[in-house]
Amino acid sequence: MLLSIWNQHGLFTLIPDKGLLLAPSPELIQSLIEERERMRSELKALCADEERLEDHAADLARSSADSFITTNQYINFRQRDIRQLERLMRSLLTQLAQLYEQGEITPHDLEQLFNQHALRVSRLLLETNGVQVFQLVDHQLMLRRVPCAEYEASFQLDLLRIKVDDLREPVLDLGCGAQAMLVRALREQGIEAYGLERLEQIDRPFIYAANWLDFHFVPDKWGTIISNMAFSNHFWHHHIRKDGDYAAYAQKYMEILRSLQVGGCFIYAPGLPFIEGILEESGDSYTVIRRELDPPLFEPEEGEGLHGSRWYVARVRRNR
Ligand SMILES: C[S@@+](CC[C@H](N)C(=O)[O-])C[C@H]1O[C@@H](n2cnc3c(N)ncnc32)[C@H](O)[C@@H]1O
Repeated sequence: MLLSIWNQHGLFTLIPDKGLLLAPSPELIQSLIEERERMRSELKALCADEERLEDHAADLARSSADSFITTNQYINFRQRDIRQLERLMRSLLTQLAQLYEQGEITPHDLEQLFNQHALRVSRLLLETNGVQVFQLVDHQLMLRRVPCAEYEASFQLDLLRIKVDDLREPVLDLGCGAQAMLVRALREQGIEAYGLERLEQIDRPFIYAANWLDFHFVPDKWGTIISNMAFSNHFWHHHIRKDGDYAAYAQKYMEILRSLQVGGCFIYAPGLPFIEGILEESGDSYTVIRRELDPPLFEPEEGEGLHGSRWYVARVRRNR
């Protein structure tokens, strides 16, 4: 019952084409009032069972984090932030149980409680992701909408100029998307391919469900790492953002390169001219090959040539 109410309405309100309002929807409040008797007994039972309460708070935290990152792909939640979100959800559930226990309950009581909760969640988002992920729409503060797409496997292979027969295995697709289209297509062709993705997906044994910043890339492991519009796009975002976490991305980028076998390649788009240049200048451990996008997806911005622009495919080969 509890889960079906959250699943149906969500804890926050999606405003189509605009963003996510960190406030409960009128439908959620109405359901919580209409189902007050069942809510009262379910919440009481839940709060009496520590393990179930923890599990339920974890489910709510997971689904809320998913609604944040599907609203705005640049929102980043590390494991420690998810733990913090779980604590906030746990406190929401216990406060809700207390409210129902007090007797008569009004829409205003519920709105107040959910708005206080939304404030705490907003503070967490501010602390972890900065002010840029928010915007004011009609005097309301909401999460800015920055959606992201997933692409057909053949489109990704063409764009990244990858010939399946030349792929060195095992292959890792970093930020493979909830559908893991490329990973599945490669496996169908007999390639030992894995994916890494933070979005919830159907349980698949060959997908690492993780945030790439929390993931440990084992040295010398991968024949090829592919990342289309994923890791490098986010690295770029943090590079240009005033309060970006570019140092964490730079460290991870080097860890990813070290996780290649000698002779292995990291193939990605968009390119990362600011760090590839440093790689090339600092010795011959890596070779960087840049290829223009064909056909060009984006016109280079003013003053950008191929080397100033990020709109190219990079193939970084580990030489030793
Ligand atoms: C634009 S989509 C591209 C998906 C896929 N590579 C494709 O081309 O179809 C970017 C993907 O990276 C994932 N992603 C973003 N940040 C991530 C992170 N920190 N850890 C793991 N995956 C992440 C997103 O969830 C999304 O599925």
